[in-house]
Amino acid sequence: MGIHVLDAMSREGFEEVIGLHDRESGLKAFIAIHDTKVGPAFGGIRRWSYISERAALMDVLRLSRAMTRKCVMAGVPGGGGKAVIIDEPGLDLERSYRFMGQRVEGMGGRFYTGPDVGTDGAALDWLSEETQFVTRTGADGPGDLAEATAAGAFAGIRAGLEFLDGEAAWDSRRIVVQGLGGVGERLAKRLVEAGATVFATDIDVERGRRAAEAAGAEFVEPSTEVTIACDVFAPCALGGFLHDVTIERLNARLIAGAANNILAKIHHADMLAERGVLLLPDFVTNAGALIRGALWHLEGHQVPLEDVEARVVASTSEVLQLAASEARPPARVARDLADERIAARRSS
Ligand code: NAI
Repeated sequence: MGIHVLDAMSREGFEEVIGLHDRESGLKAFIAIHDTKVGPAFGGIRRWSYISERAALMDVLRLSRAMTRKCVMAGVPGGGGKAVIIDEPGLDLERSYRFMGQRVEGMGGRFYTGPDVGTDGAALDWLSEETQFVTRTGADGPGDLAEATAAGAFAGIRAGLEFLDGEAAWDSRRIVVQGLGGVGERLAKRLVEAGATVFATDIDVERGRRAAEAAGAEFVEPSTEVTIACDVFAPCALGGFLHDVTIERLNARLIAGAANNILAKIHHADMLAERGVLLLPDFVTNAGALIRGALWHLEGHQVPLEDVEARVVASTSEVLQLAASEARPPARVARDLADERIAARRSS
């Protein structure tokens, strides 16, 4: 099935979609800019072995749109952007990231980029040698972004538990963390330190085992995590995980984490609500890196983790209260609220 890019752009209000090809490295990539109405577009670079060009394009569109929602809900004066690199065997990573950096620099500050799945510290260092519009690692950058995301997700989980039970009561909680990459390992560690019993997994079993051990969590084999009876399921791998099959198998009361676009389709939010599962909207609980990265670029200071947590708690609580008063799933409420705010600022 083809995709009508311009139709999709006008339907969803995108500003720009750029296809990139580097003759020397063979790099193929997309950059999507969803919204720059009140400030630059913010969004990381995802490198993934997409099954098709169409899948990569759909991903960059969905992810950049979610970034605009994330900005309005976090109170960040900017909008959504994203880049995806189609990973292929033999791709020259250094050359590819340098090429991306040059292109981002050429956009003159319309798009600020940073890490996402597949884009690690080495990639950020190559990028930052080519462009000023990227979050730097080290002392002259905004600080650890994955740590900020983990702090926000942790604060969101705490707000969700307090909403359900009036208290976090960490000592009595069983929590599953799916994905032990940059964010998942840090989140698992925080949860363990708070007193929870944490089960964690990663499809990269060797790395996952090491990360689980470092965090003090119990490693479980990939795909067994779905059925573990738990208080909280924290998705920190890839999006699209909540669909007909996984929702049937999940045995959790609260779902909250870092993975973007966790619902395969929005109606899966209704399915979860019907089953009595509270799903917190991903673009609210995973805003930590955006808050830290964007405010560093815009205001020139490092945002402390406590401030990240406070902002995520404020927006999570706002959504939860509204959802309760309207008797609607928080994921739908957050989406509508964000879209109303985007429409209001576009028409102002
Ligand atoms: P990462 O690439 O460091 O880690 C992702 C991990 O998930 C990898 O170790 C991978 O092997 C694992 N994984 C993939 N599919 C899996 C599956 N089906 N089951 C178990 N493990 C699986 O990525 P990072 O930075 O930790 O991000 C995690 C998620 O959070 C992503 O969806 C990302 O878009 C989202 N996110 C990350 C932010 C950040 O600050 N890094 C900010 C906001 C969202």
